[in-house]
Amino acid sequence: MNRNFALEFVRVTEAAALASARMMGRGDEKGADQAAVTSMRAAMNSIDFEGRVVIGEGERDEAPMLYIGEKVGRGGPKLDLALDPLEGTTICAHGGMNSISVIAVAEEGCFLHAPDTYMMKIAVGPTAKGAIDLSATPTENLREVAKAKKCAIEDLTVVILDRPRHEALIKEVRASGARIFLIGDGDVSGAISTCIPNSGVDVLMGTGGAPEGVISAAALRCAGGDFQGKLIFRTDDERGRAAKMGVKDLDRVYRIDELARGRVMFVATGVTDGTMLRGVRFFSGGARTHSIVMRSESGTTRTIEAEHHFDRKPKY
Ligand code: FBP
Repeated sequence: MNRNFALEFVRVTEAAALASARMMGRGDEKGADQAAVTSMRAAMNSIDFEGRVVIGEGERDEAPMLYIGEKVGRGGPKLDLALDPLEGTTICAHGGMNSISVIAVAEEGCFLHAPDTYMMKIAVGPTAKGAIDLSATPTENLREVAKAKKCAIEDLTVVILDRPRHEALIKEVRASGARIFLIGDGDVSGAISTCIPNSGVDVLMGTGGAPEGVISAAALRCAGGDFQGKLIFRTDDERGRAAKMGVKDLDRVYRIDELARGRVMFVATGVTDGTMLRGVRFFSGGARTHSIVMRSESGTTRTIEAEHHFDRKPKY
């Protein structure tokens, strides 16, 4: 994959972040998401590549834009995309922390074609790579992570989505002695924060969206962390959709390189302020954005601060 695509894709997440940040705190989740989707798609269609959305806004009949299977770009090298124009729509609509615009890019066939179901997840940063196993209990995982990080379980902080379905998980993590950081939304940011030194987060545990799981795996492949996921189905319809998308073993625990294989690039721009990225800051006639670009091949992480002047910029 041409590494110069990195800057092209930063422009795309910047465009989506600039559009959705206008909607911050306005209580309009749909409007914020729509603004991000429209801008992301327009910016993507200005790039010389043949992109295929593998993880997107949903299936064709439920999403008018950036649906699974949609082709984007002006023609060129073939690449697969796992994207979320606005990860954390509720966060953005309420002016909270950690909403981001994200794209992961890989060569054809390298992302798991995950259905829009839930996924049980565990994520850790580079120092605990190889220490996780989703088939083991949360307590066993925390014991192994603490061993790998040469610390006590009591020193670990686990980020968990604040949901009733996590009652038993939270109880078990508390009993293990580890600390918990509950988040309202945004488990992609939660997963990435395990790789950020001084983020104060060591592990992500719990069940969130499966598409977000693939995006997180792509990000952690680049950042040198570790991730495992298992699809969770609530209905026969969800099982059927997974089978239609080629998922054969419904109980399989996917390792990080089964969710995002090969050479992967990950790009994100902050919409609201967060652990990893600052949100969009508007000024008279323009705005500043803060983005991150990572490549699995080199392991290089770049952060890009951009100053946009709206009178001299293409409108997406
Ligand atoms: P959206 O940006 O699509 O609203 O997703 C936010 C999110 O919190 C994800 O980060 C997470 O994976 C998922 O929702 C959890 O789903 P649910 O809100 O149904 O528990």
